[in-house]
Amino acid sequence: MKFFLSLCCLVLLSFGPANSQDFIRLDQGWKFHLGDSSSWAAPGYDDHSWKSIRVHRSWESQGYPDYDGYAWYRVHVTIPSSLKTASFLKGGLRIELGEIDDGDETFLNGTRIGINGGSVGPITSGLYNKERIYQVNLEEPAIRWDADNVIAVRVYDRGGDGGMWTGKYRLSVMDLPDFVDLDDSAPFSFQGSRRISKQLILRDKSPVYGMAGILQVTVTDPSDNKTVWERTLPVSFTASRPMHYLFLPALPSQQSYEVTYTFTEQKSRKSVSAQEGIPYILTPKPSPKPRINGARVTASRPGHPFLFRIPVTGNRPVRFQAKGLPEGLSLDSRTGIITGKVDQAGSYTVHVTASNSLGKATRDLTILVGDQIAYTPAMGWNSWNCWGLSVSDAKVRASANAMVSKGLVNHGWTYINIDDGWEKGRDSQGNIVANDKFPDMRALSSYIHSLGLKMGIYSSPGPKTCGGYTGSYQHEARDAATYARWGIDYLKYDWCSYSEIDPHPDLAGLQKPYRVMRAALDGVDRDILFSLCQYGMGAVWKWGAEVGGNSWRTTGDINDSWSSLSTIGFHQNICAPYAGPGHWNDPDMLVVGRVGWGPSLHNSRLTPDEQYTHISLWCLLSAPLLIGCDMSQLDDFTLNLLSNDEVLALDQDALGREANRIDSSGDIQVWAKPMADGSIAAGLFNLGDQMEKGTLPIGLLRLGDLVQVRDLWRQKDLGNFRDAFSAMIPSHGVVLVRIWPAK
Ligand code: GAL
Repeated sequence: MKFFLSLCCLVLLSFGPANSQDFIRLDQGWKFHLGDSSSWAAPGYDDHSWKSIRVHRSWESQGYPDYDGYAWYRVHVTIPSSLKTASFLKGGLRIELGEIDDGDETFLNGTRIGINGGSVGPITSGLYNKERIYQVNLEEPAIRWDADNVIAVRVYDRGGDGGMWTGKYRLSVMDLPDFVDLDDSAPFSFQGSRRISKQLILRDKSPVYGMAGILQVTVTDPSDNKTVWERTLPVSFTASRPMHYLFLPALPSQQSYEVTYTFTEQKSRKSVSAQEGIPYILTPKPSPKPRINGARVTASRPGHPFLFRIPVTGNRPVRFQAKGLPEGLSLDSRTGIITGKVDQAGSYTVHVTASNSLGKATRDLTILVGDQIAYTPAMGWNSWNCWGLSVSDAKVRASANAMVSKGLVNHGWTYINIDDGWEKGRDSQGNIVANDKFPDMRALSSYIHSLGLKMGIYSSPGPKTCGGYTGSYQHEARDAATYARWGIDYLKYDWCSYSEIDPHPDLAGLQKPYRVMRAALDGVDRDILFSLCQYGMGAVWKWGAEVGGNSWRTTGDINDSWSSLSTIGFHQNICAPYAGPGHWNDPDMLVVGRVGWGPSLHNSRLTPDEQYTHISLWCLLSAPLLIGCDMSQLDDFTLNLLSNDEVLALDQDALGREANRIDSSGDIQVWAKPMADGSIAAGLFNLGDQMEKGTLPIGLLRLGDLVQVRDLWRQKDLGNFRDAFSAMIPSHGVVLVRIWPAK
């Protein structure tokens, strides 16, 4: 009610133009102490002997290696009353504390203002990758205006990196931007390559205020900041009556533009803005004639169930034929799904044909039956980057369905992987049991297999997973047997609480839990791809294959920001020599499309060019490609990113060599990957903030002086080049090419 009265008074006042920087930074001056004591929340506690610490970086990297458990952070801050005066809507004090790894309990001058233990419960089950945004009523006596305040944060880390790191650290009084929702989450639709449409929705999130003012939509060319399209219109909207605005700019060329939406409130003259990149589609539509895509080699172990769906684009219906199938396998000529079991080890060349009313495509598929699987990097979907711990049977089925209905299955996408959040505990015999969100795992895998797809699951070698669910510690063989019974094809095995078992592991200690699970998986009669997840500890790329991993994470968790993507992606050259058929470096899952770590999602915060960079680089790196978005909301742009067969062919190339950085100059980096046919795939990346010319010196490739170059995203030959190939590259973007000696 207080809020309502103050609003009524305030709207009569007149304010100057908005200053969106009306906040106090909270990323400096933090003090730190290991351990746990409730007295550390008190404002008067003398913390001068505490050590200084930086936020934005884990405590492990600041002198507390391998520390898991409780620790406290404290900061002193003056909260000026001018923040309150400057706010038009005076919506409450907001304290943003980045993302805390894992759980926290936060106090302002001794009063608890928030807890994140996964929304309820003890902080020991906190969610490490959720923004901590705590709100305090402006009338709350805990706030000491114009005086010293103490924010004290009790943190609990279950394993891996810990502390207050990544995200925004600031304190503000909530105002117009917090109550006006410029909802730009609807996808862009494409009517031809340069005509697009998009629906913007304006919502008033304050319960009592009606918004009126001007909406300005401006489209600019990021290469010269020139406006290429603009509209201004009066708008009004309330909480119950949002405003929908459909705009349809025609764009001068096929590239990314920036669109800025600005709402200026008429009484305060304060503005709220949002900006996003307008995507552009490069992948040509597949031909209506059949084309066989995906890996040319697939591998399985003798006597284990075999499943392979031949990926084919082109008009349906398609009829499939396969000559030379090894004994024990059969093909469904209608679906292109090959199933069965091959007892005899060997290399089998299968001549595959796909035909429709318009034509016929043929290709040789090699089926290797031996002791190796994952001959090419896994391609599929994983629930974590979208659904986090809110994953459920229904969401997994929806993803599997979308994999088929959106046609991704025709480009080689195969795995449907459940990440953390499916486990309930153990039954009286010690068998792992799924929680209520997964009523019948066996039925789920049968359904996924019936689509020609494979199913993955997640566990930890520790007693608990990162999300606080039951891990496999001391139940490894039993869990492997359960997975086999359920029909699981992929296991992501995440270190997490194994730190409780071995807090200071040496190399043998790092390897031990993975060797134990490897032995357990070897004991079942099913191929289960073994995906190690321990964030790169102990240079895992040097020994991941030796302990039987089919892939291993080389880094901490990715998020949908350029700093995360570029830091991970452009530092993979150190691991590159260790990748090869059956054992791959894993720079973490894809962050294109609608992501959010569940349950609420947002469009990837990567710009369109950053997303082209992401897919191009991951394919060059021969990385496992695990889509991390809500598959049921795949938009045209994201589909274009995930369905370019010439780009995906780099990832799935039979030679299995990972790209290396072969040249760099200023902001430009060139990464190159040798291909099985003798050609070289190269990405010219621009890490700078401006459009720049990138050059690839041809001599570096050792393909001769004269080469022919093909643009892979556009699937277009660019002609012959001598000495050097150059192209203009957008900021954070890429030109991805494949190069052969000229004919
Ligand atoms: C993290 C892992 C993520 C996700 C999560 C589940 O350690 O890196 O990819 O699996 O655990 O809790």
